[in-house]
Amino acid sequence: MTLKILAVVSEIYPLVKTGGLADVAGALPGALVAEDVAVTTLVPGYPAVMAALKKPEVVHSFAGLFGHDARLLKAQAKGLDLLVLDAPHLYNRPGNPYVDANGKDWIDNPLRFAALSRVAAELGQGLVPKLTPDVIHAHDWQTGLVAAYLRYSDRQAVPTVMTVHNMAFQGQYGRDLLPALGLPARAYAIDGVEYYGTIGFLKAGLQLSDRVTTVSPTYAAEIRTPEGGMGMDGLLRSRGAAVSGILNGIDTGVWNPATDPMIAAPYDVAHVSARAANKKALQQKLGLDVDPNALVFGVVSRLSWQKGLDLLLERLPSLVAGGGQLALLGSGEPGLANGFAGATVVHGGKVGMVNGYDEALAHLIQAGSDVILVPSRFEPCGLTQLCALRYGALPLVARVGGLADTVIDANEVALAAGVGTGLQFSPVSGDALEGALLRTFDLWRDRPSWKKLQKNAMKTDVSWTRPAAAYARLYRDLASGRAG
Ligand code: ADP
Ligand code: GLC
Repeated sequence: MTLKILAVVSEIYPLVKTGGLADVAGALPGALVAEDVAVTTLVPGYPAVMAALKKPEVVHSFAGLFGHDARLLKAQAKGLDLLVLDAPHLYNRPGNPYVDANGKDWIDNPLRFAALSRVAAELGQGLVPKLTPDVIHAHDWQTGLVAAYLRYSDRQAVPTVMTVHNMAFQGQYGRDLLPALGLPARAYAIDGVEYYGTIGFLKAGLQLSDRVTTVSPTYAAEIRTPEGGMGMDGLLRSRGAAVSGILNGIDTGVWNPATDPMIAAPYDVAHVSARAANKKALQQKLGLDVDPNALVFGVVSRLSWQKGLDLLLERLPSLVAGGGQLALLGSGEPGLANGFAGATVVHGGKVGMVNGYDEALAHLIQAGSDVILVPSRFEPCGLTQLCALRYGALPLVARVGGLADTVIDANEVALAAGVGTGLQFSPVSGDALEGALLRTFDLWRDRPSWKKLQKNAMKTDVSWTRPAAAYARLYRDLASGRAG
């Protein structure tokens, strides 16, 4: 029987995206069709979402939802089955879904995402009977209160799974907000929404959902430790086997070098030499010396402490001295952006950078780089190394989280067995990164080995097929009461 899932999320590709969360929310539903799982996704009615809706149908009207009237719309957009919370007082703001034009969090974020969570919970309790799901799947802190609204209302409800994509974002707010959130006083307890004297949205979700997943097995283990748990490790340990890791995939339709309209020349695993035209186009685009023999390192990333790019900036002289080039696309912290902008001047023709968000350039970097660098300090899963595998750019990654789970280090044993797909380094330090850069130059000098690694990388299954099967098993266990 087809299982009905209500996914709840604050961003979804291709409508609104700030990071990998949107990619996951956008691609997983399509992959679940093969598992006989039908996903409808509840999202906020941001302007970009409202503009994309095809024939929206009003399925519920709220009289006064956190201050004003609101509507629940059912519609399709870009192939996605959506429920959209049309609440202009909360979501009718252009641009980034979380911050204003000055980059500051919207002051009413707790209410904006509590509203989304409350509507999800009500849908789980039969708000619109024909849309009642079998399981609710909530993503990240913005939807952490779904499980709280269900727990503290005394009505029958459906089971919940919460996926945490990044422990660094927790949604912590003052306890005085409790009445405004519509939660009873008893919710403010250690086994409820209370978190170190505040209300913790993510904490609530991790505590109260029937199951918790994160986006790789290694990150699932890391967050149980004080170093990786960012305050939640004790809670996660106490939840025992209710916490697990399911690796992300990527949309292999969007990320397909054989059909990609955003790259200079299409190619596949049987025609890897055609990558040369993409490398040339990338070098031209980023102002790098056009040289087929220069080893081009690519980066597509948010510029933040998490991503470890300060280490790369520090070791750029070694990268350039070894004959390498850097093609970087990123947006985020001004300090890092300025640092790399400065490096383009110091290392003219060897370091190129675009500060901003540019989907087409992200694809060209994947197709034209020889290596994709991901030196993250922590990485729940990471998607850019998966794209790199598919595009035959060898991922050079820190051995943490999902990076450890998705790249086979080309060490001596792997080379002898012919199974490597990239390079890993550990610990996450400048010295270890530099060591890995030197190892990469060594490998590059041995072109036959390099080509073998490239082919291994491109043949890796990075699709959603296996992860979707794992989610489907989890949903069915929950729906049948086998997991709790
Ligand atoms: P995170 O979600 O932590 O930022 P992921 O690797 O999971 O990291 O996902 C990042 C996603 O965002 C990938 O799809 C990547 O291609 C994309 N991305 C990141 N920065 C940029 C950028 N500046 N321009 C275009 N795409 C970007
Ligand atoms: C987060 C993580 C990233 C992960 C993405 C999607 O943004 O930082 O590692 O790939 O979510 O799950």
